[in-house]
Parts: sequence; structure tokens; C-alpha cells
Amino acid sequence: MKADEVLIAHHDVLRGLLRDLAGTTDAQTDLRERLRDDFLREIEIHAQIEDELFYPAVVDVSPLLSVAHAEHRQIDDQVATVMRTPVDHPDFLAEVRMLESTVRHHTMEEEQRMFPQSRALGDARLEELGDRLRERQRELAASGGMRLIIRLKRAILRLTRA
Ligand SMILES: [Fe+2]
Ligand SMILES: [Fe+2]
Repeated sequence: MKADEVLIAHHDVLRGLLRDLAGTTDAQTDLRERLRDDFLREIEIHAQIEDELFYPAVVDVSPLLSVAHAEHRQIDDQVATVMRTPVDHPDFLAEVRMLESTVRHHTMEEEQRMFPQSRALGDARLEELGDRLRERQRELAASGGMRLIIRLKRAILRLTRA
């Protein structure tokens, strides 16, 4: 799979989790917790493989990198807000929907503008980069390190909850 295809497949996972989360009711607290944790894990992995492998590879062919980095920071802030909000809080769904809108905007911009620019790298590089993205994605998903980072992040967010 080429790099853009790997990332688009993962975008579908991210958008699907947020769509499911936005479709929950206040009574579905366990489901909300689970979907929120799943989304946190996947967005951390996604941002990491892009920041570590994909963005550095396209730096010479895409002028959109600074915008993309700024949007990752915005997503980070909105994820932090969603993590800090109790799942049965009246504002929870509104915050999920704001995050969903930012994630949609960012992923569509990558798919419609940045990924077409990345094709300048050529098919062979994109295939090779796609393999590395998938390998790193699997590694992070399986790694205790990533689980630890997520647990720590959740604990920190709970402590700093307003
Ligand atoms: Fe991104
Ligand atoms: Fe992305």
C-alpha cells in the first residue's frame, strides 16, 4: 500500500470512531469511555506516524506542513478538552462534535491537497514509505510504551480537570 492509502485507511478509522462517539446517548457512559479511549489511542498513533515519517518525507513537495502541524496542535487541545470532560456532562457531545469537525477538516485537507502533492515522490517511494508507516503503526499499537504514554496522559488530564 502507498503511504497516502495507509493514511486514508487510518483517517477512516478516526472519523468512524468520532462518528460513533457523536452518535451515543448520555446513558451510554461505558460505550463513550471505550470509544473515547480508542480514539485517543488511534489519534496518538496517527499523529506520531505522520510527524515522524510522513511529514518529513513530503517536506520538499508540500507547502502545507506548517498548517498541518498547527492543526495537529489544535486537535491535541480539543482532544485534551474531550478527555477532561466527564462523558455524562451536558457539554460532552458538543465538544466531541467540535473535535470531529476539526479532524474532518484536517484529514480532508490532507487527502485533497497534501496527498496529491506527495505523489511527486513517485510510486516506489510512496510504496516504501507506506510499508514503513504500517510497520510503525503496528509497532506503536503493540507497544507497552504507547499504552504507558496514554495512561499517563489520561492521568494528567484527570488531575488538571477544571
Ligand atoms: Fe495530519
Ligand atoms: Fe492524517
